[in-house]
Amino acid sequence: MTPRIAVMGAGLIGRRHAMHVAASPDADLACVIDPHPVGRDVAAEYGAPWAASLDQALAYRPDGVIVATPNGMHMQHGLDCIAANLPVLVEKPLCDSVADAERLVAAADAAGVPLLTGHHRRHNPLMQRARQMIDGGAIGRPLVANAMFWVHKPDDYFDVAWRREKGAGPVFLNLIHDIDNLRFLLGDITAVTAAESNGARGHAVEDTSVILLEFASGVLATASVCDATVAAWSWEANSGENPAYPQVDQDCYLIGGTHGSLALPSLTLRRAQGERSWYAPLETSREKVPAEDPLARQVSQFARVIRGEEAPLVSGREGLETLRVIEAVKQSAATGTRIVLDPEGGRS
Ligand SMILES: NC(=O)c1ccc[n+]([C@@H]2O[C@H](COP(=O)([O-])OP(=O)(O)OC[C@H]3O[C@@H](n4cnc5c(N)ncnc54)[C@H](O)[C@@H]3O)[C@@H](O)[C@H]2O)c1
Repeated sequence: MTPRIAVMGAGLIGRRHAMHVAASPDADLACVIDPHPVGRDVAAEYGAPWAASLDQALAYRPDGVIVATPNGMHMQHGLDCIAANLPVLVEKPLCDSVADAERLVAAADAAGVPLLTGHHRRHNPLMQRARQMIDGGAIGRPLVANAMFWVHKPDDYFDVAWRREKGAGPVFLNLIHDIDNLRFLLGDITAVTAAESNGARGHAVEDTSVILLEFASGVLATASVCDATVAAWSWEANSGENPAYPQVDQDCYLIGGTHGSLALPSLTLRRAQGERSWYAPLETSREKVPAEDPLARQVSQFARVIRGEEAPLVSGREGLETLRVIEAVKQSAATGTRIVLDPEGGRS
């Protein structure tokens, strides 16, 4: 059976989901759901029906829904899909607060309906290869990491009022992807210390944030975020994942272990030729992984989840845990304290 997937929200990312579902050999586009007439236009582009609401969409017999509506609607739209017994992939952030995300995850668990989070970078073959390399011992025991999101968002990006207000900002909008990548590669994060500044633009949201992350495994990492610097170290610029961003051959994640280090997204591995010593030359190798669009792969995985063949690669719970870290980053920066995330998922 080829699952029929509905896309809810025909905005910036919803359009790309509609395109990928329509083009997928593994799924059909059931309909596009959006009360705004833009939904009709996007549906027409792919020869699919338009529905103004999930209730209307049920007439087109979807087997699953991708929710790509504004953050504040994710919980309600996710709950509506779960109530209709429809597997649902919710765009990141899973919700706009940890409390809402916990409610959504609990509802999905109680109903036994698959809930997925749209952290699509985990579907990138190079991320999956990096995880295999680390798990396979290529760098020994991971010890230290550094992740960078350094970009310059153009001035007109901030013409839209909500992007200047609390609840937006590069930590919540962008760093969430990097934190999810780090969690995928290195496991759970147990404590966070952060400082932030709005010194470049003076908006209510930060333009710069520097974060110390402590992992359950003992790894210590730093992540730095700035959306007001003219620089080329970011997943956006370096991975080539999204053609909207000109690609620069640099690395934005550096991961060091007892026996080697790995730089991403280039997958450059450095190991000792012989003795591990800073006086000895290093052996350098670079892996090539065929590029594939992670959004398209995410659609295919969602189809397999709907067919009951696989568990979600990025579950709702994973989306919740990543959001928990982001909330802790904001809380740490606001209070000037180290925030401990306890293993039960709460805070202490
Ligand atoms: N994974 C990624 O890389 C990525 C990239 C961009 C956005 N996002 C996420 O996707 C979500 C949408 O972002 P966007 O930039 O596309 O927003 P957007 O504002 O461009 O689009 C949102 C759409 O939702 C529609 N909508 C509003 N209420 C609705 C309702 N009740 N039912 C159905 N549709 C409704 C709006 O009409 C609009 O077309 C956000 O959560 C955002 O964080 C993720």
